[in-house]
Amino acid sequence: MLAEKSYKLAVRWSWLTRWYDLLIRLTMREATFRSALLAQITVRSPRSILDIGCGTGTLLLLLERRFPKAELVGLDGDAHMLRLAEEKAKGGGGGIDFYQAVSYAMPFNDGSFDVATCSIMLHHLSDTDKVCTLKEAFRVLRSGGEIHIADWGKPSNRLMRLLFYIIQWLDGFDTTTANVQGKIPEFMAQAGFSKVAETGRVDTMLGTVALYKGTKL
Ligand SMILES: C[S@@+](CC[C@H](N)C(=O)[O-])C[C@H]1O[C@@H](n2cnc3c(N)ncnc32)[C@H](O)[C@@H]1O
Repeated sequence: MLAEKSYKLAVRWSWLTRWYDLLIRLTMREATFRSALLAQITVRSPRSILDIGCGTGTLLLLLERRFPKAELVGLDGDAHMLRLAEEKAKGGGGGIDFYQAVSYAMPFNDGSFDVATCSIMLHHLSDTDKVCTLKEAFRVLRSGGEIHIADWGKPSNRLMRLLFYIIQWLDGFDTTTANVQGKIPEFMAQAGFSKVAETGRVDTMLGTVALYKGTKL
């Protein structure tokens, strides 16, 4: 069991956790940003994929559909989210392993994965923990491996900036400011990733979600 303070809840109040999937579907143009994230993976036939901060496992189920032969691993700090993920995964191919752990101290050997994904999770972390998490992702990827991130990014316009105050109020200004300043690529480079790029933006009811990509050379 992890100490509650070692990670932030997906939604501010734990009683909302079971409504998480519905909230994301209704507010975040989920199908658009998740399919764009999957589309940018260029590793051919990855053997193993890690989803960092997997939450209820929605992205893992999409990854399972696209890469049925890959070994899929989900990591999250929250036991409640992982229970929901395990429940959902029962309807899939059954090949997803879940770990309860924090992202900045992952229980995996160096070079264990071909691809790492991380969606709408980094904005829960302090800037130091964002970099530590990205360093951990770098460590557990094989050389040639890719990281694909979707998270709150630089707003596309003033309306997006205004709407994002709702997320900042819910999730805290301390962990979300770097996102809105567009600093995630800088943190990815600091962690060791090359070919770091913002690959797209999706405007949602709560602000702009940015997509990023990096490679471990
Ligand atoms: C907003 S949810 C996103 C879930 C999922 N990736 C998605 O796309 O729907 C953020 C998730 O990150 C997890 N989380 C936050 N901080 C974490 C940390 N330091 N280590 C591991 N998981 C963390 C939360 O428990 C939550 O499930």
